[in-house]
Amino acid sequence: MNKLIVSLLLTLGITGVAHAAGDARAGQTKIAVCGACHGADGNSPVPNFPKLAGQGERYLAKQMHDIKDGKRTVLEMTGLLANSSDQDIADLAAYFAGQKGSVGAADPKLVARGEKLFRGGDLSKGLPACAGCHAPNGTGNAAAGFPHLSGQYAQYTAKQLTDFRREDAGRANDGDAMTMRTIARKLSDEDIAALSSYIEGLH
Ligand code: HEC
Ligand code: HEC
Repeated sequence: MNKLIVSLLLTLGITGVAHAAGDARAGQTKIAVCGACHGADGNSPVPNFPKLAGQGERYLAKQMHDIKDGKRTVLEMTGLLANSSDQDIADLAAYFAGQKGSVGAADPKLVARGEKLFRGGDLSKGLPACAGCHAPNGTGNAAAGFPHLSGQYAQYTAKQLTDFRREDAGRANDGDAMTMRTIARKLSDEDIAALSSYIEGLH
């Protein structure tokens, strides 16, 4: 390509953002190994394996890349994505994003505290409302890459919030994950328990 055109495209930011478009039908043919833990329809059978059904496509693809590249540690998935191409990851993300997520139930004793923090944050600690990014009903913002939370298992959510809070564990250290790390550091163990339970029953 002509050098001038290349630099023009770079200036306009047109190149480099060429994310592969996912094909859900192709994705369905690639889930055999995922289904055992996450469920064939993305509703995993056990609370330490996250539900993927109905999760935003952009967020799903980012997590798969993070896991594949070792930026997010998931021991259970070691090597599983090693041979997945960008297209495979995009197809898997499209498939799971198109599935319907199941909802659970919150512990009635924790709902009031969970709801207050989720919807209003806590000014005294400088904690922003979760709803500001993850939406009042927890469905997230797929285009922005803010994950869908509602209906997710409390056990999984609590582990993520604890991982974000720790320096040494779990999640990536890029911009999106740093946003959550800053927020999670303001949460106490009791806040995490209340929020995780509230989120499981949210829909
Ligand atoms: C042996 C069980 C197992 C298998 C098989 C497995 N996963 Fe996972 N996966 C996990 C666990 C456990 C986590 C969450 C770990 C953590 O952070 O606590 C996870 C996390 C994820 C996440 C991040 C979800 C989120 O909400 O952030 C995605 C996306 C994912 N897996 C996709 C896949 C895909 C696609 C496959 C098939 C190629 C697959 N997994 C196979 C156990 C598994
Ligand atoms: C400023 C926007 C913003 C706010 C406010 C916010 N989040 Fe997040 N959250 C994010 C982003 C972005 C990610 C994805 C991080 C990544 O890419 O690893 C995320 C990820 C998460 C995850 C991981 C989801 C999964 O499937 O693993 C949980 C759980 C979560 N947030 C809970 C909360 C809770 C609870 C609050 C309120 C205390 C909150 N968030 C406030 C932006 C936000």
